[in-house]
Amino acid sequence: MKKVSLTGIKPTGTPHLGNYLGAIKPALELSAAYETVYFIADYHALTTVHQGSVMRDNIHKVAATWLALGLNPEEGLFYKQSDIPEIFELNWALSCFTPKGFMNRAHAYKDKVAKNQASGTDDDSDVNMGLYCYPCLMDADILMFHADVVPVGKDQKQHVEFARDIAVRFNKQYGEDILTIPEPLIQETTHIIPGLDGRKMSKSYDNIIDIFLEPKDLKKKLGKIVTNSQGIEEPKDPETCNIFKLYRLFATPEQTENLAARYRAGGMGWGHAKAELQDVLEAHLGKARDRYFDYLAHTERIDKILADGAAKARVKAKETMDKIRSVIGVA
Ligand code: TRP
Repeated sequence: MKKVSLTGIKPTGTPHLGNYLGAIKPALELSAAYETVYFIADYHALTTVHQGSVMRDNIHKVAATWLALGLNPEEGLFYKQSDIPEIFELNWALSCFTPKGFMNRAHAYKDKVAKNQASGTDDDSDVNMGLYCYPCLMDADILMFHADVVPVGKDQKQHVEFARDIAVRFNKQYGEDILTIPEPLIQETTHIIPGLDGRKMSKSYDNIIDIFLEPKDLKKKLGKIVTNSQGIEEPKDPETCNIFKLYRLFATPEQTENLAARYRAGGMGWGHAKAELQDVLEAHLGKARDRYFDYLAHTERIDKILADGAAKARVKAKETMDKIRSVIGVA
């Protein structure tokens, strides 16, 4: 029996190259060794996304992204969280075993309170109960499907630790074999993925490159990568160049060495380097981009895949819930 790897994808915006290299690609690679459970955490996104059309759009975009990049819905599970009512039932049950202090200590909530204090507003200003209880819903996501590992970024490690703690408490009370104790699997990215300005690629720095851009839009975007003002003929240092740092994340070792040699030799302008970056991105992601836009042109296909995935997932969710309802004494 393979171990279960589970992760949630929050549909809050269009995924960028940093998300691709840091999270999506490594998560998809796990499907060789693990039974995978990947889902769209739309009710987590509801803590911040309050427009129906934006939510629907985001769900389609993030589902299309994962499908286009190779997620195989036939293997493992792929569904949308809101389609599994059992998760919200488990959320309540687990909340009755979750110390309120855990939620007080959760990073996202604490950061928000700190910001409010810094600006002199009420501690809980602009904090809805969804944001406050966010980690508890994650516990239900994770424990429902008996996840052994949860691949997440460092920012989510605390949430998985809460899930471990709650599972231990629950099992102590009702029996050791009921919930599986999950392990965070932290994705260590060896390279920082630089954005247009050389800082870490992040929506909050407004320096992102979307994964799927049509060639003319990609060209425009790459035009914005910040470089120094060296002239074409001057020899250049690849190691300090933002174009090169992105290039080597997508190129083969031979291509990377070859481009580095041409930088050092001089006679290679930033425009040329950007064109070569565009070529490797196109080679790496061009076909996936076509699949992505094809899915978005036929969102009914995405809806069907998610509906089938939910039906499959609910069989397992019901098994877990039947057991839980029985041990807590409501059934
Ligand atoms: N909170 C996660 C994020 O912001 C998304 C998420 C929801 C998740 N439920 C999960 C991740 C369960 C792992 C396991 O990215």
